[in-house]
Amino acid sequence: MSEASQIESPIGSPAESKVGSQFSRPQALALLHAWTQGESLRKHALAVETCVAAYGETEADRLALAGEERDRLITLYSTTALLHDFDYEKHPTPEEHPFVGVRELERLGWPAETRTAILGHAQYSGVPRTTHLDKVLFACDELAGFLTACALVKPTRAITDVEVAGVKKKLKDKAFARGVSRDDVYQGAAELGVALDTHIAFCLEAMKKRAAELGL
Ligand SMILES: [Fe+2]
Repeated sequence: MSEASQIESPIGSPAESKVGSQFSRPQALALLHAWTQGESLRKHALAVETCVAAYGETEADRLALAGEERDRLITLYSTTALLHDFDYEKHPTPEEHPFVGVRELERLGWPAETRTAILGHAQYSGVPRTTHLDKVLFACDELAGFLTACALVKPTRAITDVEVAGVKKKLKDKAFARGVSRDDVYQGAAELGVALDTHIAFCLEAMKKRAAELGL
């Protein structure tokens, strides 16, 4: 196998083959799809990616990155989000998720920033969230799920019909989308240092731009 084709291989590349390069979004998507057959978990990955990558763009702006450096940062955010739950379908228990997936990512040579953020998004891992990416992934994970739920109860099932005020109201309604931890949503925004309203508006805006792809 040539070096180029090894780098292009989404799933089987040994770590050494990608020194000096970066895994791409299509490679993350291929790995996600190889491990996850369920449409809703795939959609969840895309929804979280949408919000996380949008924060990656703001971070790239803040750092005044351009060209390849900017692309690399946004790809790091995007791929990390796409893969944050990629092992969940096969290994849903807290004993295994996300530890099995992270071991696989390490074997394949995915960067430490990605693996640490994925470990950190699981509160029970005990891995602290220290980087902007760590905090963004945690802040967007539950919220993206919640915004999806808010869209799906609209008669149109469209994210374009969801507004910040309605989201905040539903966050207080304990019977709605019980699976979403409100504490994680509030804690995520606080850790990121963004007001809850601002965070909700930002993620909503990002998801509205990709509504068709998200099926919302
Ligand atoms: Fe998630």
